Order: sequence, then structure tokens, then C-alpha cells
Amino acid sequence: MTKPTIAVFASGTGSNYHAVYKAIQKKELTCDLALLVSDQPTSKVIEKAKEHNTPYFAFQPKEYSSKDAFESEILDQLRIHKVDWIILAGYMRLIGPTLLQAYEGKILNIHPSLLPSFPGLDAIGQAFKAGVKITGVTIHYVDEGMDTGEIIAQEAVKVLKDMDEQSLQKKIQLVEHQLYPTIIQEVITQSID
Ligand code: GAR
Repeated sequence: MTKPTIAVFASGTGSNYHAVYKAIQKKELTCDLALLVSDQPTSKVIEKAKEHNTPYFAFQPKEYSSKDAFESEILDQLRIHKVDWIILAGYMRLIGPTLLQAYEGKILNIHPSLLPSFPGLDAIGQAFKAGVKITGVTIHYVDEGMDTGEIIAQEAVKVLKDMDEQSLQKKIQLVEHQLYPTIIQEVITQSID
């Protein structure tokens, strides 16, 4: 059976990209990581992709006339690399109609809160400042909204008394790095059955 092919989209540090990469190396995740896409050409995730020999496409959104213009170029890259699934991992942009139509039902995102609470930027800071005692991680399908697509999986993380924002972030990211590869595997396997 041919393995599904994924592209990871990321804008920053790339710890989730790395977790996906490692899960594939360990054969816990049975897909091919064909491409990393980043809207931040100088980000850490690009350095990691180079280290791991993951092909990458990095672009500067401001050099394009519109979202459709850069998404059309991304789409060309996805087709060249025969990508089946788009995995958003800290890609800090809304996906537009060009990619949504081409990859309907085949785009996943991870978000560091229990959606629908704390969507958008700085979800961990938002939760910490709100003083909630439980937050967590959500994996969901992507639609045109901001963190609004159908929820696939969630895991709760307790905010303990002695935690600051940094230690909460650390704990949430540990959960992300376990949960995302597991759920990607489940979703991709289901789509083959
Ligand atoms: C992750 O915590 C991810 O959940 C979050 O960005 C971080 C990226 O970290 N995504 C969002 O907030 C999306 N709305 P990473 O670059 O180390 O994987």
C-alpha cells in the first residue's frame, strides 16, 4: 500500500514539525513528509528542515500581490511533491479559499487551548491571564475561520498553582508533541480504510 504524503506548514520554532519528523523516523507515523512550507524564511523551522533534509518551500507573503497569489504557488509545490494532507503546526496565517478548495477535509491544525476557548494568537497567554485551572490542546480540521473547524481530539492540561506562563507552555508543548503524531496517524489511517 502506498503511504500518504504530508506537508507540514510552520512559521516559528518548529517543535511540532520535529515531533512529526521523529514519529515518522520511528515508524509510529506511517506517511512521507514530502515538504515543509513556511511564511518565515529565516525561522528556526527552516534550519530544522535543512538539518533533516526535508524539502522546503519558504516565501515572503509581502512579496506577493494577494493571499491567492502565494497560495497558488504553494499549491504548485504541493502538487509537485504529490502531497495528500496539509498539517498546520504553528502556521500563523488563515488558510484561504485556494488551498481550502484544493484540500477540502484534508487540512489539520493544532492549537494550544481547549477550543472554542482562547482561539487566535497567544492562546497560552490568554488562558494564563484568564486564570483558568484547566486548558489544553485541540486538534481540528481547518475551515475558513480562525480555529473554528470541526474538533478531532482534545487533551486537557491542568494549570498548577506554582506554574508561570513559561512552564505552562512547556507542559502544553509536551502534550502537543505526543498527541499530534498519534492523531495524524489515526486520521490518515481512517481515510485509507
Ligand atoms: C504550537 O504551540 C501550536 O499549537 C501553536 O503554535 C505553536 C508552534 O510551536 N499554534 C497556534 O497557536 C495556532 N493558532 P512550534 O513552532 O514549536 O511547533
